[in-house]
Amino acid sequence: MRKPIIAGNWKMNGSRSSIKDLLDGIKAGMGDVKSAEVAICAPAIYLADVSAQLTGSKVAWGGQNLSTEASGAFTGEISADMLLDFKSEYVIVGHSERRTLYGETDELVAEKFEVARKAGLKPILCIGESLEERESGVTNEVCGRQINAVIERSGVKALAEGVIAYEPIWAIGTGKTATPEMAQETHAAIRQFIAEKDAAVAEKVRIQYGGSMNAANAADLLAMEDIDGGLIGGASLKAEDFLAICKAAG
Ligand code: PGA
Repeated sequence: MRKPIIAGNWKMNGSRSSIKDLLDGIKAGMGDVKSAEVAICAPAIYLADVSAQLTGSKVAWGGQNLSTEASGAFTGEISADMLLDFKSEYVIVGHSERRTLYGETDELVAEKFEVARKAGLKPILCIGESLEERESGVTNEVCGRQINAVIERSGVKALAEGVIAYEPIWAIGTGKTATPEMAQETHAAIRQFIAEKDAAVAEKVRIQYGGSMNAANAADLLAMEDIDGGLIGGASLKAEDFLAICKAAG
C-alpha cells in the first residue's frame, strides 16, 4: 500500500502574517487527518517561519525549486543545503511553471532531481502535457519523455526516492480538472511506463495528481487506484480547503 501524500504548493503567494494564520489553521485541523502524509512547499524566504511553526507537527515542508549548484556565484539561487538548513524534507522540481516560464528543460530538471536526492531531499518531480499535446494524443509520450530524463541520469530506482506529480498543464490554476477517469488513465500509463523498467519501483512510487484539485473534487480523484495524493496550488492557500483535501486522502 502506498501512503497518500498531499503537498501544498504555495507558489509566490503569502506574507509572514497570512502564512502564520494559514499554518495555525492547518495545524488545528490535522487531528482529523488519519494516515495521509502532508507537506507544504513554501516560498524559500518563508522557510524559516514555516519550519519554526511546523516543527513538532505532523506537517512536513520544503521548497519549490533548487539550484543544481552547491554554492558560489549564482545570484538569486537557493541550494539543496540551504533548504536542508531549514529542515526541508521535500522540494518540487520541474513544475510546469518553471519549465514554461523559466525554460527548464527535461535534462535540467533531471539534474535538479539528482542533486536534491543526493543531498537527502525528496524531490517531487512534476510532469504533464499541455492542452495542445493532450489534443494531439501525445500525453503518454510527453510524460514518458519527462520521466525518462530522470531515469537516464539517475537510474530507475532513484524514482522511488522521490514523488511524481502528474499535472496536466491545462488543468493548473484553470479550474478545469481532469476527470478522475482521465487522470487515472494517465497515472496508470505512467506506472506502466516505469514498470517496464522496474516493476518494484512502479509499485512503490507515489504519483500525485495536480491541477485544480479542490475540496469538492479531491475524494473522487483520490479514490482512483493509481492516484496516490495531490499537489495542490490554489486550494492550499485556505486552511479549510487544504484540510478537506488532506482528510479525503485518508
Ligand atoms: P492548482 O495548482 O491546484 O492551483 O491548479 C497546482 C500546481 O500547480 O501544483
